[in-house]
Amino acid sequence: MEHNWTSDNLTSLQSHILAEEQKYEDATGEFSWILSAISLATKAIGNKVRCARIEDVVGEVGSENVQGEMQHKLDVISNELILRCLGDRDNVGILASEENETPFFLRKRTEGGKYAVLFDPLDGSSNIDVSVGVGTIFSVLRLPDGGTREDAILQKGNKQVAAGYVLYGSSTILVLTTGNGVNMFVLDQAIGSFVLVEAKLQIPNGNKTYSINEAYTARFSDGVQSYLEWAHQNNYSSRYIGSMVADVHRTLLKGGVFIYPPTSDKPEGKLRLMYEANPMAMIIEQAGGKATALGDRILDIHPTGLHERTSVVLGSTDQVDQFLKHTT
Ligand code: AHG
Ligand code: MN
Ligand code: MN
Repeated sequence: MEHNWTSDNLTSLQSHILAEEQKYEDATGEFSWILSAISLATKAIGNKVRCARIEDVVGEVGSENVQGEMQHKLDVISNELILRCLGDRDNVGILASEENETPFFLRKRTEGGKYAVLFDPLDGSSNIDVSVGVGTIFSVLRLPDGGTREDAILQKGNKQVAAGYVLYGSSTILVLTTGNGVNMFVLDQAIGSFVLVEAKLQIPNGNKTYSINEAYTARFSDGVQSYLEWAHQNNYSSRYIGSMVADVHRTLLKGGVFIYPPTSDKPEGKLRLMYEANPMAMIIEQAGGKATALGDRILDIHPTGLHERTSVVLGSTDQVDQFLKHTT
């Protein structure tokens, strides 16, 4: 019997990356080493997340991270898994994490350390003990030839060569952009591979849904409060999980706007520019949406510190614009 090969053939993350790299003449294939380490680490993290409460991985460890936030056991485990998997890749020069005050300088540019990987190992970790979706966010930068070590990673988000997240939800999803659209993979548990399920994702317009922690309303600016009042009168719906990865993933697939504005007690905002806002902004823009910090394009912000915070408004272009009408 003859086989009919169709475009429905199974594409793994690995083969997808290799195929993408072949499009560039000077491709060396090194990028796939980084992605394979991220894939391995996130499969291992996902496995720990799925074992929460069976294994002793739930709860706080009693220490605070650099943000002054309580570290959960899974924050620490996830961080170590990523550091171990990415640390031995010859082309990774710098690793920087939400959980570590200073970056790890592993290899100089002259020793082959061509890339920096910045990450939030476990996003939404306060949701872990109630089995709500959590994730890992990552951002990949190319390191410059010269310059000081510290300055090397303080690059604008528009310099990212790749960005993505893994959502440990009811299924395990990897969303990736290398600057050529957004692709979505699902972890097929049976074969242990991330498999391409949708290429060139586009965020839809027309979904009247906002995602914000509305309990903070009294601490929002007049503009944000006026947007919320307007939305209440215009048949909007609200969805807020409290895990950025899960909230952004829903926004990417269904449309709407995700908002984490400044509050009177956190005037800079809460979310971290370099390993939360920037990677999500690149994904949203690559999917045809918009990502701003109350009007300024997130990807154009010049970072002054690894753990710098920013306000975040991202999602469908029509919904972000609607929000900005009230705030700018
Ligand atoms: P993390 O768990 O990495 O510290 O991130 C938590 C973040 C983010 O996931 C979410 O969007 C936000 O905190 C929720 O904050 P609020 O509880 O203030 O709404
Ligand atoms: Mn986070
Ligand atoms: Mn985190």
